[in-house]
Amino acid sequence: MQPVGQFVPLLLLCLLAVALPGADGASGRFWHLTDLHWDPGYEAAAAAGRPCPSGGERTGPAGPWGSYLCDSPWSLLRSAARAMRDRLATPDFVLWTGDDTPHVPNEQLGEEKVLHIIANLTSLIKETFPGTKVYAAMGNHDFHPKNQFPGKEHRIYNQTAELWRPWLSDASLPLFRAGAFYSEKLPGPGSRGRMVVLNTNLYYDQNDETAGEEDPGGQFQWLEETLTKASRADEKVYIVGHVPPGFFEKKRGKPWFRRGFNERYLAIVQRHHRVIAAQFFGHHHTDSFRMFYSDTGAPISVMFLAPGVTPWKTTLPGVSNGANNPAIRVIDYDQDTLQVLDVVTYYLNLTRANMMSSLPVWEEEYRLTEAFQVPDGSASSMQTVLERIWRDPHYLQLYYEFNSARYDLELCKQECRVDHLCAIREVDFIKYNECVKTNSSASAAGSVWLLVFCMFLGLLSPQ
Ligand SMILES: *[C@@H]1O[C@H](CO)[C@@H](O)[C@H](O)[C@H]1NC(C)=O
Ligand SMILES: *[C@@H]1O[C@H](CO)[C@@H](O)[C@H](O)[C@H]1NC(C)=O
Ligand SMILES: *[C@@H]1O[C@H](CO)[C@@H](O)[C@H](O)[C@H]1NC(C)=O
Ligand SMILES: [Zn+2]
Ligand SMILES: [Zn+2]
Repeated sequence: MQPVGQFVPLLLLCLLAVALPGADGASGRFWHLTDLHWDPGYEAAAAAGRPCPSGGERTGPAGPWGSYLCDSPWSLLRSAARAMRDRLATPDFVLWTGDDTPHVPNEQLGEEKVLHIIANLTSLIKETFPGTKVYAAMGNHDFHPKNQFPGKEHRIYNQTAELWRPWLSDASLPLFRAGAFYSEKLPGPGSRGRMVVLNTNLYYDQNDETAGEEDPGGQFQWLEETLTKASRADEKVYIVGHVPPGFFEKKRGKPWFRRGFNERYLAIVQRHHRVIAAQFFGHHHTDSFRMFYSDTGAPISVMFLAPGVTPWKTTLPGVSNGANNPAIRVIDYDQDTLQVLDVVTYYLNLTRANMMSSLPVWEEEYRLTEAFQVPDGSASSMQTVLERIWRDPHYLQLYYEFNSARYDLELCKQECRVDHLCAIREVDFIKYNECVKTNSSASAAGSVWLLVFCMFLGLLSPQ
């Protein structure tokens, strides 16, 4: 036997060993960007020394890259697009979860202006990722009047469908026109991944169009059918949308969905969790996550809430200092199972960017697996993350600083801690309220006073 002949099987074995781990579970990456909120009037206002339109009555310095009191100037959006191209120019796909227009009254917008802004940002993303599949969802600001999405066909759905036509399959087009939701198989030969893009603006409590309806647009029924079919076809699904169920972690007792819609969404996730690999939403502008549990309390699903690009400080009463640094994120995932392997968030220190004369630098803020010492972004790993921030003030503070992309570096103490932990753990209205009640410092302080009172009574009693 020739020496070369002996070598061949060895070489084959070696190649096989290298190829095997890739055969099931090559890892891929995609961008998730959300809440760009372009303020087209920013530059003109700054030049005239007036507050930006999205700042309302609030005034502050208008830096070249933006202001914490304002929505994004064009310079910030262009910078974010450049940062994405520099970091990862050819992702497997892009998730874009909406909110394109500035926070200004309806009277300053109008249907045409809203559509113009959506069109402009659509071209920015197309130019940034030519030839890349983009799964786009409408945000509650991407309509006129804002929030008033109907559960039936509408001109604005039609026009948005036209803008996004290059990204939509033929089958998605009529669905989108009828309610702005759709589902598609992920690109890639033999992929068993599926994207389900929802229009959860239909469930928003600010939406008067759908109030009192049981299943606006038939979206819930469609979602159940889609998940059932996906399960039969042995697919794995990502659910994507803008307004999330559950509560805002920066304001106690502030949900977005109407009660019945929140219950229905939760029930669907519980029923179909085996086929759902993860959920990706926006709307908060902050970086957080939500846990979903089975009836027996096992973690069954996780929703990642991505921080926004706009730094705009919220005017929601009761939220203190609710601005954030602009942020974008990459998700590493298993292309076969859609298991989330890691979440890498990049942010721009806006204060610093405005002080520099050079181009802004978007830095890596953190990598989920490193920062929280977990193997991946599965539901059980995210349960571990929750337990770490629940028990360990060091992890709580780490989470809290990431929550605003390192804008708010204050200590997260009693009330802050309860608000965040209960919002993460309890998407259900009743359970959230119980969580806040049993964990709040008010009730802890209350029992201390009760104890003191009892001791006092004891002192007074005659014997
Ligand atoms: C979007 O708006 C920016 C800023 O006004 C402009 O430079 C750009 O050309 C616009 N893009 C499109 C496609 O309209
Ligand atoms: C939307 O587009 C479809 C197909 O082009 C058309 O049949 C329908 O009348 C349009 N609906 C509205 C409300 O404009
Ligand atoms: C952002 O930049 C400002 C100005 O350089 C600095 O004071 C601040 O500490 C920076 N924030 C973070 C989180 O690095
Ligand atoms: Zn928003
Ligand atoms: Zn929103």
